[in-house]
Amino acid sequence: MEYQEIIERKKAILSTTIKSIPEAVIADVKKQYAEKCKGSIVSYERAKKVIPAGLEHNLGLANPYPLTMKTAQGATIWDVDENEYVDYLMAGGPIILGHKVKEVDEKIIELLQNYGPSTGLTCESEILCAEEIVRLMPGVDMVRFLASGTEADMLAVRIARAYTGKTKIIKIMGSYHGWSDQMLLSSDRPGTGNVHACGIPKVSYMHTIEIMPNDYDALEKAFAENKGDVAAIIAEPTGGHAGTFPNHPDWNKTMRKICDENGALLIFDEVVTGFRLGLGGGQEYYNTIPDLTVMGKIITHGYPSCGAVGGKHEMMSLCHPGRVAGKSAYTGGTMSANPISTTAGYESLKCIQKYDAITKASDYGDRITARLNELFATRKDLPFFAYNIRSIVHVETSCPSGTFLVANSRGVSAEEQKLRTKAAEDIYIALMNEGVLLLGDCKRMYACMQHDENALNKTLAAWEKVLAMIPVQG
Ligand SMILES: Cc1ncc(COP(=O)(O)O)c(C=O)c1O
Repeated sequence: MEYQEIIERKKAILSTTIKSIPEAVIADVKKQYAEKCKGSIVSYERAKKVIPAGLEHNLGLANPYPLTMKTAQGATIWDVDENEYVDYLMAGGPIILGHKVKEVDEKIIELLQNYGPSTGLTCESEILCAEEIVRLMPGVDMVRFLASGTEADMLAVRIARAYTGKTKIIKIMGSYHGWSDQMLLSSDRPGTGNVHACGIPKVSYMHTIEIMPNDYDALEKAFAENKGDVAAIIAEPTGGHAGTFPNHPDWNKTMRKICDENGALLIFDEVVTGFRLGLGGGQEYYNTIPDLTVMGKIITHGYPSCGAVGGKHEMMSLCHPGRVAGKSAYTGGTMSANPISTTAGYESLKCIQKYDAITKASDYGDRITARLNELFATRKDLPFFAYNIRSIVHVETSCPSGTFLVANSRGVSAEEQKLRTKAAEDIYIALMNEGVLLLGDCKRMYACMQHDENALNKTLAAWEKVLAMIPVQG
């Protein structure tokens, strides 16, 4: 689906009343869910005593209870109560080969038996993995591994400032670049600023300039008002949160151009898109080469410590783990580039190529999107629709993410925003009750190469049941 149609359809959802599962029906769904997920409830109650909020990751947030998982295989996941789910969470994006990849796991076991988990000194897999990334990613001459995407975003910003000698960073609202003090702004909803954390002093983000997605005038203005002091633009090449706020087709090239004209760097956050949109990431897919590339997720394929910054030689050379004379961007991390991460990275990248995982996952993304849209079309009263960027599939129902689109024309009250979010979350829980697991917040689905016809049919059957819970209107 093209950009303009996506925006128009989001607007169409926002211009109609919210289509939701009635309270009595969703209460019954939650009752069934609680009945089926007794083990998860016990686990959650136990976790709440020792873990703040009872869970560590927003991926697990689910009203009324988060699930505790038992195991996963291919495109399927089972909870502790033995309930089976078609998995589209895919650990939040890193899994594209499917769960439990024997070839990768065996290499990790071999590593542990022969080398051990970590020595703090160079392991060959570190070089192999870096060489492979450099070979695949067009904008990357050198790689520095880190422990997470958040750390990698922090380092990319530091390198940009060290290299340019400038201070300001332009961030596109609705994009997520980790949870560091300087980046946690409007990351879920454009225009909301710092809503996540009370512990962030304003001074931490006084050099972060936020602009609305695809706002060409605001981009020009940000450079004009901060003449000579913009170090970089940081952006997801798809648009924020993997295309929840999709980029206009010209937007990446416009950012590239304005950076070049002003001596600023373009940072692409490819934590999700790297090795998912293509072997050369979003930069290859959109044919726009950034100066610095932030990577994470797929480079360890679910194994821990998944972060890296890559870029041009002259910029990356500033990274140094020690104190050096002259320009440098100090880079630390005891567990960065640990042998488990880099072995997982190297072996996963080889498997992704060997099995043509990106094409297979993307083909499934296309198929499930088309079939969902066919299904939604059978309900003329519902404005629901799906769109995908290769294996990243978005399903819009009440469109809580799109409220900013109409903010200027009629405004969206906080109350409406809450209701739209609740309606989408109710659909999410009803789908989970039917054995389909999505990303909870904005109904994103990640496909892997092992999603097959069976997964597709189960997913459509679940959606069909959930649609039937929403009363026909008009
Ligand atoms: C685009 C993007 N950047 C950065 C991050 C942060 O990565 P991590 O969770 O590894 O810190 C994420 C995580 O979801 C992401 O989607």
